[in-house]
Amino acid sequence: MKVVVDDIELDLPAGTSGLDAVFAAGRDVPYFCAHPYLSPVGACRMCLVESGSPRRNPDGTLVMEGEQPKIFWFPKPMAACTMQVTEGMHIRTAKTSDVVAKAQAGMMEFTLLNHPLDCPTCDKGGACELQDRAFEYGYGASRYGFDRRHAEKHFPLSDFVILDQERCIHCKRCVRYFEEVPGQEVLDFIERGGHTFIDTEEGGLPTGFQGNITDICPVGALLDNVARFRGRNWEYDHTPTTCTLCPVGCAITVDARNGRLERVVARENREVNEVWICDAGRFGHVFASEERLTRPLVRVKGELREADWDEAILAIRRGLGGLNPADLALYLNADSTLEEGAALEALAELIGTPSVDHWPRYGANVETTATLTDVATADAVVVLGADLGEEAPVLELRVLEMLRGGILPPEFPHGTAIADLRLVERPTRHPERLAVIGGAPRLSAHAGLRVTGGQRALARLLRPDTDELRAAAKLLAQAKKPVLILGADVLHSVSRELAAGLSDLVTRTGTKVLAIPAAPNSRGLAHLNLVPRAGGLGYDRLAEARAAFLSRLDPGRRARGFTIVHDTHLTATARLADVVLPAVTGYEKRGTTVNLEGRLLPLRQAALEAGEGADLIRTLTALAEALGVRTRIRGLKSAQALLAERLGVDVTDLPNSGVIRPLGRTFTAPTGLTFTPRLWKERMHPNPERRGSRVPDRADRIATWERTGQAGGDD
Ligand code: SF4
Ligand code: SF4
Ligand code: FES
Repeated sequence: MKVVVDDIELDLPAGTSGLDAVFAAGRDVPYFCAHPYLSPVGACRMCLVESGSPRRNPDGTLVMEGEQPKIFWFPKPMAACTMQVTEGMHIRTAKTSDVVAKAQAGMMEFTLLNHPLDCPTCDKGGACELQDRAFEYGYGASRYGFDRRHAEKHFPLSDFVILDQERCIHCKRCVRYFEEVPGQEVLDFIERGGHTFIDTEEGGLPTGFQGNITDICPVGALLDNVARFRGRNWEYDHTPTTCTLCPVGCAITVDARNGRLERVVARENREVNEVWICDAGRFGHVFASEERLTRPLVRVKGELREADWDEAILAIRRGLGGLNPADLALYLNADSTLEEGAALEALAELIGTPSVDHWPRYGANVETTATLTDVATADAVVVLGADLGEEAPVLELRVLEMLRGGILPPEFPHGTAIADLRLVERPTRHPERLAVIGGAPRLSAHAGLRVTGGQRALARLLRPDTDELRAAAKLLAQAKKPVLILGADVLHSVSRELAAGLSDLVTRTGTKVLAIPAAPNSRGLAHLNLVPRAGGLGYDRLAEARAAFLSRLDPGRRARGFTIVHDTHLTATARLADVVLPAVTGYEKRGTTVNLEGRLLPLRQAALEAGEGADLIRTLTALAEALGVRTRIRGLKSAQALLAERLGVDVTDLPNSGVIRPLGRTFTAPTGLTFTPRLWKERMHPNPERRGSRVPDRADRIATWERTGQAGGDD
């Protein structure tokens, strides 16, 4: 389709919005309410452009003006975000049209009419779309000298999100987000005209995905309470990396200032999290900068005392002296990187220990064949024994996307389409496409078919014994692109017989399977043979080990003999250890993680103050030194070379969005332990008072209203 923007000719796909046509031409247009993953509504009127189209004569020929078709211009500027471009359409932006420039400046003046201009103190300063656009497209001076509208100053909508109604420009992004993405109608406009204000029902915001509204609010009306007043946008070191709190592996940016992790914001990865992240990923980062272990500790006369690394190595050498190195058990947390796993495996081989394990993991691995995009575009999804909120929250959003018709925004040379006209407000949902069996309490509310009791869910689905289970099996059988999601309740107990039944179902119905791994990188580590070998002790038999090294695991028990703990905090297990070595968090690592789809994703190192904390590769090098051996892996490069040998993949230069590569066979072994997936760990909970960001709570605010007789949004 031919379209002309500011005299630049373009060839665009049908259905493109005027806004995207302008960006496709490399021109600019300001916008506040449009958002790539939300329906276009035309609420802010900032994206005004002049537009005109050719017209046809009654005989079907084009009305001509000389050699060219005559363009009939609309009498007034139009909102480009809700306008669909048509064949031969012409668009003029502020660059070539004075009418547009004046209309946009006027609209900006109108938007600023009641805006409190808190800019010197507003935490959004430096990242505020309103501020930026006012500089670019505003008049530069106000013609209005009167007092602005006043509302109560900021108050919490929840523990995590602060609302300042005065700053709201009524773009409706937050309202549409809740309605369209997690499917929760919690926020809305109240009152009309100059009295309009945004608020929620008493009771705050639903937990799970509320933090995303702080990313998309174009002004400082909705702010992240964990990060508020901790720094300005330009003061942060921004590190694009991958969240390693669950196996989804969302794209995030870690913002650090003066060595402290102050903020996590979502980054776009169209294949994984689009632009959304869960609340744990956004707000649960305080542990990275609080109460960290920054120096090694060595037990002297029964007490742990601070030491340096040389003293710690000496203490390990003494503690392990006389022990056969093959009796040293090595256990690592399954959120470790592939490189760290490779280093541990190399050391295990070198010292000949069969006692190696990663945790958490399941006793059997089920092959995953579905991607997150497959889930979003499926025509039937059955969720079996999974609590997605605890196991893989953003997967829940992709299931909800499927229920809205699986419309994935197209990609243009300028990026994701900013105004996708196929997205609509209050979208029609298709609950009949979703069956939830056991687990997933939150998702059940959206499912057309719900079956309680996750135990034996797979066995029961394979041999349905009730009408509902028969209906769920039929859903998979009759769909063209079905996906089966398996969670912890099922994966804890997959026998050989069940696995055979599952593979039969998959072949018969063409179902793709997404088995949620037990931990952020347990899928990757399962390819590295990090399970007990013949005669070895698994993690469940830690207490029997003559000596053990545990990296960031906290079973609350120690080995029979000498115990070394490598952790970021002084955990219960660290308190029992003989030597404690400081570790770094997932935000401070370089390396590679594998998400639930099998996508290799890069981790980048944020500038955090970690004292003498070391990643597992460096720590294992020190352990090897204490054992008097020289391990082959002494840094990231040698670990990556080993990964290339073992897994046949080059992970040295992964793109930010990651890549899916086959990693060969997986290794597994029975385990005597089970676990309940829990996303929020105790130390992830932010404590606003400790961070100095406490704001008056809802009761305080109501008391203020009653005192002053003034409700939010009044003149
Ligand atoms: S609070 Fe923010 S996102 Fe919500 S309508 Fe107001 S300006 Fe828009
Ligand atoms: S869904 Fe998982 S990977 Fe994504 S932000 Fe949340 S915890 Fe992190
Ligand atoms: S009217 Fe808000 S972006 Fe178009």
